[in-house]
Amino acid sequence: MAFLADALSRVKPSATIAVTQKARELKAKGRDVIGLGAGEPDFDTPDNIKNAAIEAIRRGETKYPPVSGIAPLREAIAKKFKRENNLDYKPEQTIVGTGGKQILFNAFMATLNPGDEVVIPTPYWVSYPEMVLLCGGTPTFAATTAANGFKVTGAALEKAITPRTKWLVLNSPSNPSGAAYTEAELREIADVLLKHPQVWVLTDDMYEHLTYGDFVFKTIAEVEPQLYSRTLTMNGVSKAYAMTGWRIGYAAGPIELIKAMDMIQGQQTSGACTIAQWASVEALNGPQDFIAKNKAIFQARRDLVVSMLNQARGISCPSPEGAFYVYPSCADLIGKKAPSGKVIDGDETFCSELLEAEGVAVVFGSAFGLGPNFRISYATSETLLEEACTRIQRFTASLS
Ligand SMILES: Cc1ncc(COP(=O)(O)O)c(C=O)c1O
Repeated sequence: MAFLADALSRVKPSATIAVTQKARELKAKGRDVIGLGAGEPDFDTPDNIKNAAIEAIRRGETKYPPVSGIAPLREAIAKKFKRENNLDYKPEQTIVGTGGKQILFNAFMATLNPGDEVVIPTPYWVSYPEMVLLCGGTPTFAATTAANGFKVTGAALEKAITPRTKWLVLNSPSNPSGAAYTEAELREIADVLLKHPQVWVLTDDMYEHLTYGDFVFKTIAEVEPQLYSRTLTMNGVSKAYAMTGWRIGYAAGPIELIKAMDMIQGQQTSGACTIAQWASVEALNGPQDFIAKNKAIFQARRDLVVSMLNQARGISCPSPEGAFYVYPSCADLIGKKAPSGKVIDGDETFCSELLEAEGVAVVFGSAFGLGPNFRISYATSETLLEEACTRIQRFTASLS
């Protein structure tokens, strides 16, 4: 009898964590490494949020929470959805989890049976297919192209849907491409979904507050109210409020689904950390000026990185609408020789040779299901970004 569960043989470890680990090891050996792999803001959590947590501890808010979340946070979530997305959810339709990651996992666990398919547009956040596989479902993929801004079209979605499709995962702005869907693009997707009433939508709006220029964020239930009864609208405080370590994510949706997720959570964690939930009440209800300040900083970084990468030989980098990632192509460099003598046969080799030659850690695109590309996280200082891009330019110029 095998000791480890069969489910483990279906999944693979996270490539983004592997890159971060490799960069850490090289740094420990004394190499000068710039890590552009991590998916978290480099800012600290705002003081008003930290203070709310400290006050909660002092008040003795240190007991088990209700499984789906403390009442003030569920109310704050319902208010946030109304205020920012014009969506009407009652607090009972919301659930708080240990990060957005757990919300997604529990939604799949609550709904997937063997053979159920989940459509995931490529490139995708590395965890979606693995979560689907762990929960016994089958990930299927809808291709996008750089020409379409890495956004799934109605036609590509239609092609990916089968009678076994249970979910579409829609992540806007996207990790890894930064692509965000306009209202018109969501409309096109909604029109396809209206023809397939068995398909639910899991919208991962984690990066909602990080969009640039005059882009207007929309979520699909807002664009097509007929989808409200089969949409789980997921969001969280990790990226918008620089709270990755607090581990709070949330969602709202039809009550039967929320109840099923509550049941799973009741046997799993008994609910997310009480103190972090009080901090999240302040994040959602408190002053929001932190968000605008961060957006301006991120936008300047995006513009810097896009401009410098497009000056690197053989790299082509679109300027995405949001998140803190860019997803350049290295297709023109395939077949060239690195200084080590190794031939660049794909994006994984491109990234490992870049790390070896110049000490810049980025994540290869094939890990996100679409290459030859690579993902750069620009959640770091302009000084470091400038240095990293200079090194990338030097590396691509050195290929023969
Ligand atoms: C697209 C996307 N969804 C969800 C998450 C998970 O967020 P959390 O830190 O709240 O678990 C991440 C984190 O990297 C992400 O990039």
